[in-house]
Amino acid sequence: MAFWGKAKKVEPDVGLDPTRLPQHVAIIMDGNGRWAKRRNQPRAFGHRAGVEALRAIIRESSDLGIKALTIYAFSTENWSRPKDEVSALMSLLLEFFGREIDELHENRVCIRILGDVQGMPAPQREALVAAMDKTGGNTGLKLNIALNYGSRMEIVRAARTIAERVEHGEIRAEQVDERLFESCLYTVGLPDVDLLIRTSGEMRLSNFLLYQVSYAEFVVVDTLWPDFDLAAYRAALMEYQKRDRRFGGVKA
Ligand code: FPP
Repeated sequence: MAFWGKAKKVEPDVGLDPTRLPQHVAIIMDGNGRWAKRRNQPRAFGHRAGVEALRAIIRESSDLGIKALTIYAFSTENWSRPKDEVSALMSLLLEFFGREIDELHENRVCIRILGDVQGMPAPQREALVAAMDKTGGNTGLKLNIALNYGSRMEIVRAARTIAERVEHGEIRAEQVDERLFESCLYTVGLPDVDLLIRTSGEMRLSNFLLYQVSYAEFVVVDTLWPDFDLAAYRAALMEYQKRDRRFGGVKA
């Protein structure tokens, strides 16, 4: 599929097996701050470069036919960052939707926000709701953007929803199973995460998709997020294809 009308820099990688791609890729886009610091620039400069890296990864995921891509853009803990950095991230978000939404829509990308949208500032909230409304019926790549998101908060929220349903007599406690629980998460209806990528070498989950990564393969790369290009993405996908996934069982 010709995407965003631009030629891609890297030719399709013959080494990737198109029949064994992950259905759902999640990415912790880490290292924007360090990338900027190495260039004696403010952290916001790194976030801006991070958005450019993200655009290419969205395109590639769509071109490869990956079903779902979930990216960690802003956590519930990120509000504690310096005011000017938070405000730069909020501006970038508005800019991203302003610039990209039509092309994402034309390319059938379906956008979902994971997180507390109501807790976002009004202009961002309106842009997010408009993006979800516009693209909600699209059948292409499911692009999930974790924003004002925390996994513990998501799990507690699901538990509360279920407790209320039990309290109101809608369901009995013994009916609570994994399927019901999953239907109360922001990721309802999405396949489990197959591959979790974290850039910048840090080996932690940072309160991201704790439930959904139960059987995900983890690939941590030293590359800082703004430098994570198509070649790096394909290398991570290749690494995933080398893994022996047993889901707690044994090899036949
Ligand atoms: C982590 O790097 C990155 C973030 C907290 C923000 C990620 C956001 C973007 C890539 C752009 C915004 C997204 C959209 C959808 C417009 P860090 O700042 O913690 O880096 P450091 O660990 O080197 O300090």
